[in-house]
Amino acid sequence: MKIDTKIIAHRGSKGTRPENTLISFQAAIDDGCDGIETDVHFSKDRQFIIMHDETVDRTTNGSGLIYEKNLAELKHLDAGIRFSEEFKGTTIPTLQEVVNLLIQNNFHGIFNLELKTNKVQYPGIEQAVYEYFASIQYPFQLIYSSFNAHSLEILNNIDPQAYRAKLFKTAAKQAKTLKKSKLIEDFHPDIRWVKRHPFFASVKHLRPWTVNSTEDMQYCFKRNMAAIITDYPARAVQLREEMRG
Ligand code: G3P
Ligand code: MG
Repeated sequence: MKIDTKIIAHRGSKGTRPENTLISFQAAIDDGCDGIETDVHFSKDRQFIIMHDETVDRTTNGSGLIYEKNLAELKHLDAGIRFSEEFKGTTIPTLQEVVNLLIQNNFHGIFNLELKTNKVQYPGIEQAVYEYFASIQYPFQLIYSSFNAHSLEILNNIDPQAYRAKLFKTAAKQAKTLKKSKLIEDFHPDIRWVKRHPFFASVKHLRPWTVNSTEDMQYCFKRNMAAIITDYPARAVQLREEMRG
């Protein structure tokens, strides 16, 4: 079977490593993924912090909001121990550290950077991230995404060429409206919506999340979707090989 679907590692190899850490991203590369997804916030001193939640509580041994802590404080936290004792001592990475890791690995895949501006807005983060990438050279394909349409609009105003994708937690009606607005190129919807809503059958560049079960992976591969975003890239790579025959 012809399957071109790319496999994007959600927060790295989240299923087998502490999410959004350098260990997790390295594992995803070693697993043979085609892309890496991650989430970025601002610390109090406006450094780019890689984490999913707005607070450090769930994934580290600390507590409190990221934007109330400076980078130095955040660097003292352990981002591995809650996942497993084996990963004790793992630190929270900055965006620059993740990018450096990808450059060191000569990673030519997709780097999907989600601007986590849907709960805390982090004013100026869009411009800051854009300027950072404009100041460096990198081998990967950068795709910005966000649940916050305003962040995508800001990026569009800065540079209409910046590759943007909209994340969806809500109804396909919103997806339809946004498609018409030309604000975005691609759609990153919840896989549950994709399976339920006929609208998505007509969307070309579909990269649903979080595609973890064998059944959902098969569903996406059979439809030859642009990509899947998964916590288990190694499993997805193996299944895709089997289905390709
Ligand atoms: O980018 C896909 C996915 O990461 C969106 O949801 O909450 O895991 O960031 P979340
Ligand atoms: Mg994300």
